[in-house]
Amino acid sequence: MREPVIAFDQVSKSYPFYHHVRGIKHLLFNLPRNVKSFQQNQYEALRDISFEVYKGEQFGIIGHNGAGKSTTLQLIAGVLRPTSGRIVVRGRISPLLALGAGFHPDLTGRENVIFNGVLMGLTRREVMARLEEIVEFSELGDFIDRSIRSYSNGMLARLGFSVVAHLDPEILLIDEVLGVGDIRFRQKCIKKMMEFKNNKVTMVLVTHSVNSVMQICERAMWIEDHTVKMIGDSQKVARLYCEAAGVPLNSQENVGMAELEAPAI
Ligand SMILES: Nc1ncnc2c1ncn2[C@@H]1O[C@H](COP(=O)(O)OP(=O)(O)O)[C@@H](O)[C@H]1O
Ligand SMILES: [Mg+2]
Repeated sequence: MREPVIAFDQVSKSYPFYHHVRGIKHLLFNLPRNVKSFQQNQYEALRDISFEVYKGEQFGIIGHNGAGKSTTLQLIAGVLRPTSGRIVVRGRISPLLALGAGFHPDLTGRENVIFNGVLMGLTRREVMARLEEIVEFSELGDFIDRSIRSYSNGMLARLGFSVVAHLDPEILLIDEVLGVGDIRFRQKCIKKMMEFKNNKVTMVLVTHSVNSVMQICERAMWIEDHTVKMIGDSQKVARLYCEAAGVPLNSQENVGMAELEAPAI
């Protein structure tokens, strides 16, 4: 009945564990042993994760810093490969994974929009048809024709969100963009995501804003200590997550809906 467009089956991801290496000299003079220890010393960022995201649903991922949320999104996007397990993704991915990721520092904002659109699989004509809308949404003014080297983090977040949100996303991946930039632009992003929700665009949202997850997502996954703690109705998962963290649900740390109603500043 419900068609999964993302499926993780017992997925684990390890990173090489570099911290034990005591300097480059030590590494060079103990090369054979170190190569071996490099291979053996793996840091497990995700352990045995299984979940599905269905077509048209908005799926939230919550968890403390370092839990493995960004790693999960990067695996969905195909930027990382799993160490073990199986991942199936059906559909065109529009990723907003990290500030400036996918942007070329030598290009202007406008050129980066075109560059990204083409990378996401659209034709140049399709991108050009939406260019003005994207530029307007980003509110970058004259900066849109400057190299993105001159952009602040907030400006990079604006450009990134504007690009992924306007190029007909099939599966939208958003990592923490709500945490950067001013409140008014964040409100705009939340409104846009509510539009996507109404239009049944599949979305995976990683954010510290538990309230945004409750507002936007039907279901949520709580990752704790690199593995799944709970998957279910977003209201329930968010409530139990906040209870466990000892943070009230409507606290400042969980900004979201309240901001939508606050005056723009
Ligand atoms: N490229 C990397 N190399 C080594 N360790 C990494 C790398 N990326 C992330 N990690 C580690 O993997 C764990 C999960 O990271 P991440 O997925 O970024 O967590 P989150 O997004 O939930 O804060 C963290 O402990 C982090 O330090
Ligand atoms: Mg992260």
